[in-house]
Amino acid sequence: MITQIQTIYQQTIEFAAQRHGEQKISGNGIPYVVHLSNVCMEILFTTQETDNFDLPLAVQVALLHDVLEDTQTQEDELLKRFGRQVTSGVKALTKNDVLPKEERMLDSLRRIKQQPKEVWAVKLADRITNLQPPPLHWNQAKIIQYRDEAQVIYDELKDGNAYLAERLKSEISKYAITIVR
Ligand code: NI
Repeated sequence: MITQIQTIYQQTIEFAAQRHGEQKISGNGIPYVVHLSNVCMEILFTTQETDNFDLPLAVQVALLHDVLEDTQTQEDELLKRFGRQVTSGVKALTKNDVLPKEERMLDSLRRIKQQPKEVWAVKLADRITNLQPPPLHWNQAKIIQYRDEAQVIYDELKDGNAYLAERLKSEISKYAITIVR
Protein backbone atom coordinates (compact mmCIF):
# COMPACT_ATOMS: atom_id res chain seq x y z
CA MET A 1 0.00 0.00 0.00
CA ILE A 2 1.23 3.45 -0.88
CA THR A 3 1.28 5.78 2.11
CA GLN A 4 -0.87 8.83 1.54
CA ILE A 5 0.85 12.15 1.19
CA GLN A 6 -1.10 13.59 4.15
CA THR A 7 0.32 10.85 6.38
CA ILE A 8 3.83 11.38 5.07
CA TYR A 9 3.48 15.10 5.75
CA GLN A 10 2.28 14.60 9.33
CA GLN A 11 4.92 12.04 10.25
CA THR A 12 7.73 14.05 8.72
CA ILE A 13 6.76 17.42 10.17
CA GLU A 14 6.45 15.87 13.64
CA PHE A 15 9.96 14.45 13.38
CA ALA A 16 11.31 17.79 12.12
CA ALA A 17 9.47 19.80 14.80
CA GLN A 18 10.91 17.61 17.54
CA ARG A 19 14.41 17.90 16.14
CA HIS A 20 14.35 21.65 15.61
CA GLY A 21 12.91 22.00 19.12
CA GLU A 22 13.23 25.56 20.39
CA GLN A 23 14.89 26.89 17.22
CA LYS A 24 13.32 30.12 15.93
CA ILE A 25 13.25 31.75 12.50
CA SER A 26 16.07 34.27 12.51
CA GLY A 27 14.78 37.83 12.84
CA ASN A 28 11.21 37.25 13.95
CA GLY A 29 11.22 34.68 16.76
CA ILE A 30 8.60 32.43 15.19
CA PRO A 31 9.11 28.65 15.75
CA TYR A 32 11.34 27.21 13.02
CA VAL A 33 8.79 24.58 12.05
CA VAL A 34 6.74 27.39 10.45
CA HIS A 35 9.60 27.93 7.98
CA LEU A 36 9.64 24.20 7.17
CA SER A 37 5.89 24.18 6.68
CA ASN A 38 6.07 27.26 4.42
CA VAL A 39 8.66 25.59 2.20
CA CYS A 40 6.44 22.52 2.01
CA MET A 41 3.41 24.70 1.18
CA GLU A 42 5.32 26.00 -1.87
CA ILE A 43 6.00 22.39 -2.85
CA LEU A 44 2.32 21.43 -2.56
CA PHE A 45 1.35 24.22 -4.97
CA THR A 46 4.23 23.32 -7.26
CA THR A 47 3.07 19.75 -7.72
CA GLN A 48 -0.14 21.03 -9.34
CA GLU A 49 1.93 22.91 -11.92
CA THR A 50 4.60 20.27 -12.62
CA ASP A 51 4.47 17.06 -14.64
CA ASN A 52 6.14 13.92 -13.26
CA PHE A 53 6.75 15.43 -9.84
CA ASP A 54 7.68 12.98 -7.07
CA LEU A 55 5.58 14.58 -4.31
CA PRO A 56 6.46 12.20 -1.43
CA LEU A 57 10.17 12.84 -2.09
CA ALA A 58 9.71 16.60 -2.36
CA VAL A 59 7.53 16.86 0.78
CA GLN A 60 10.00 14.91 2.90
CA VAL A 61 13.05 16.78 1.64
CA ALA A 62 11.23 20.10 2.16
CA LEU A 63 10.36 19.32 5.78
CA LEU A 64 13.80 17.88 6.56
CA HIS A 65 15.97 20.28 4.56
CA ASP A 66 17.65 21.87 7.59
CA VAL A 67 17.63 18.92 9.98
CA LEU A 68 21.27 17.96 9.34
CA GLU A 69 22.54 21.53 9.23
CA ASP A 70 20.74 22.88 12.30
CA THR A 71 20.13 19.93 14.65
CA GLN A 72 21.99 16.99 16.20
CA THR A 73 20.30 14.53 13.83
CA GLN A 74 22.78 12.16 12.20
CA GLU A 75 22.80 11.01 8.62
CA ASP A 76 22.39 7.30 9.39
CA GLU A 77 19.32 8.01 11.48
CA LEU A 78 17.76 9.83 8.55
CA LEU A 79 18.77 6.96 6.30
CA LYS A 80 17.02 4.38 8.49
CA ARG A 81 13.87 6.37 8.87
CA PHE A 82 13.44 8.11 5.51
CA GLY A 83 15.58 6.12 3.09
CA ARG A 84 18.45 6.81 0.74
CA GLN A 85 16.83 9.21 -1.71
CA VAL A 86 15.47 11.59 0.94
CA THR A 87 18.76 11.47 2.86
CA SER A 88 20.92 12.31 -0.15
CA GLY A 89 18.57 15.17 -1.03
CA VAL A 90 18.85 16.61 2.48
CA LYS A 91 22.63 16.15 2.41
CA ALA A 92 22.89 18.13 -0.83
CA LEU A 93 20.92 20.95 0.83
CA THR A 94 23.28 20.91 3.83
CA LYS A 95 26.22 23.32 3.72
CA ASN A 96 29.63 21.78 4.26
CA ASP A 97 31.01 23.70 7.23
CA VAL A 98 34.55 22.48 6.58
CA LEU A 99 34.70 24.81 3.57
CA PRO A 100 35.34 28.55 3.83
CA LYS A 101 32.04 30.39 4.32
CA GLU A 102 32.00 32.06 0.92
CA GLU A 103 32.33 28.71 -0.90
CA ARG A 104 29.56 26.88 0.93
CA MET A 105 26.56 27.96 -1.10
CA LEU A 106 28.09 27.27 -4.52
CA ASP A 107 29.31 23.90 -3.27
CA SER A 108 25.80 23.04 -2.09
CA LEU A 109 24.27 24.23 -5.38
CA ARG A 110 26.72 22.01 -7.27
CA ARG A 111 25.60 19.00 -5.20
CA ILE A 112 21.90 19.89 -5.55
CA LYS A 113 22.32 19.82 -9.34
CA GLN A 114 23.36 16.16 -9.13
CA GLN A 115 20.04 15.38 -7.41
CA PRO A 116 16.52 14.82 -8.80
CA LYS A 117 14.61 17.98 -9.81
CA GLU A 118 12.48 17.74 -6.64
CA VAL A 119 15.59 18.66 -4.62
CA TRP A 120 16.24 21.68 -6.86
CA ALA A 121 12.60 22.61 -6.25
CA VAL A 122 13.09 22.54 -2.47
CA LYS A 123 16.03 24.94 -2.73
CA LEU A 124 14.01 27.32 -4.92
CA ALA A 125 11.07 27.07 -2.49
CA ASP A 126 13.38 27.68 0.47
CA ARG A 127 14.69 30.93 -0.96
CA ILE A 128 11.24 32.10 -2.07
CA THR A 129 10.09 31.57 1.52
CA ASN A 130 13.10 33.47 2.87
CA LEU A 131 12.56 36.51 0.65
CA GLN A 132 10.07 38.04 3.01
CA PRO A 133 10.84 41.66 3.98
CA PRO A 134 14.28 41.45 5.69
CA PRO A 135 14.71 41.76 9.47
CA LEU A 136 14.86 45.40 10.57
CA HIS A 137 18.37 45.03 11.99
CA TRP A 138 19.83 44.11 8.58
CA ASN A 139 21.79 46.92 6.95
CA GLN A 140 21.67 47.70 3.25
CA ALA A 141 24.83 45.75 2.41
CA LYS A 142 23.41 42.62 4.03
CA ILE A 143 20.11 42.99 2.18
CA ILE A 144 21.89 43.46 -1.16
CA GLN A 145 24.09 40.45 -0.46
CA TYR A 146 21.03 38.31 0.30
CA ARG A 147 19.32 39.50 -2.87
CA ASP A 148 22.43 38.77 -4.97
CA GLU A 149 22.69 35.32 -3.42
CA ALA A 150 19.06 34.66 -4.38
CA GLN A 151 19.94 35.67 -7.93
CA VAL A 152 22.76 33.07 -7.97
CA ILE A 153 20.30 30.41 -6.78
CA TYR A 154 17.90 31.46 -9.54
CA ASP A 155 20.63 31.36 -12.21
CA GLU A 156 21.88 27.94 -11.12
CA LEU A 157 18.55 26.20 -10.49
CA LYS A 158 15.99 27.88 -12.75
CA ASP A 159 15.86 24.83 -15.04
CA GLY A 160 14.81 22.67 -12.10
CA ASN A 161 11.23 23.92 -12.00
CA ALA A 162 9.62 26.53 -14.25
CA TYR A 163 6.84 27.45 -11.81
CA LEU A 164 9.15 28.02 -8.83
CA ALA A 165 11.77 29.77 -10.97
CA GLU A 166 9.10 32.28 -12.03
CA ARG A 167 8.03 32.76 -8.41
CA LEU A 168 11.60 33.27 -7.25
CA LYS A 169 12.24 35.80 -10.01
CA SER A 170 9.24 37.82 -8.94
CA GLU A 171 10.19 37.68 -5.23
CA ILE A 172 13.71 38.87 -6.11
CA SER A 173 12.38 41.89 -7.94
CA LYS A 174 10.02 42.76 -5.07
CA TYR A 175 12.86 42.30 -2.56
CA ALA A 176 15.03 44.80 -4.40
CA ILE A 177 12.47 47.50 -3.54
CA THR A 178 13.08 47.00 0.19
CA ILE A 179 16.70 48.06 -0.35
CA VAL A 180 15.77 51.71 -0.71
CA ARG A 181 13.76 51.90 2.52
NI1 NI B 1 15.46 26.77 4.94
